[in-house]
Amino acid sequence: MADEQTFIAIKPDGVQRGLVGPIISRFENRGFKLVALKLTSPGQELLEKHYADLATKPFFKGLVSSAPSAPWSGRVRTPSRPAVSSWVLPTPLTPPPGTIRGDYAIEVGRNVCHGSDSVENAKKEIALWFTPSEVLKWTSAQAKWVYE
Ligand code: TYD
Repeated sequence: MADEQTFIAIKPDGVQRGLVGPIISRFENRGFKLVALKLTSPGQELLEKHYADLATKPFFKGLVSSAPSAPWSGRVRTPSRPAVSSWVLPTPLTPPPGTIRGDYAIEVGRNVCHGSDSVENAKKEIALWFTPSEVLKWTSAQAKWVYE
């Protein structure tokens, strides 16, 4: 069975608009398993590392200025549903209704959430935002107690 993790961060505009619950619900409703969650004000240094590949862009300064946000990391065990997928369509595309950005985002600089764009970047981002002990080692066996 495929076992892939992604990193989703609900950005300050999403937190301020009260969208943490609705966005997490979308992933839970689809069957993704949440293995780490934190509400944090990351600070400029962490945001600069997270967005290091955009350092030369004109919008970089505004992007990394410190503000509260609620990042979280999810994990999936469903082979046909990769965790790193089109939940958060990349910025150049106009997100259609039904996607998170299509339903909630106002404009490119207020697009509510971040999602890893590859498995490799998801690994890097999870390591940047979470310590290993903060990430649950989830297995399907651990979930069975709910139904006992
Ligand atoms: P990027 O990594 O290109 O997009 P995505 O979030 O879809 O992976 O850009 C990161 C963030 O930078 C993007 O979510 C919003 C912000 N941004 C702007 O504010 N203005 C812009 O013109 C672009 C391209 C991005």
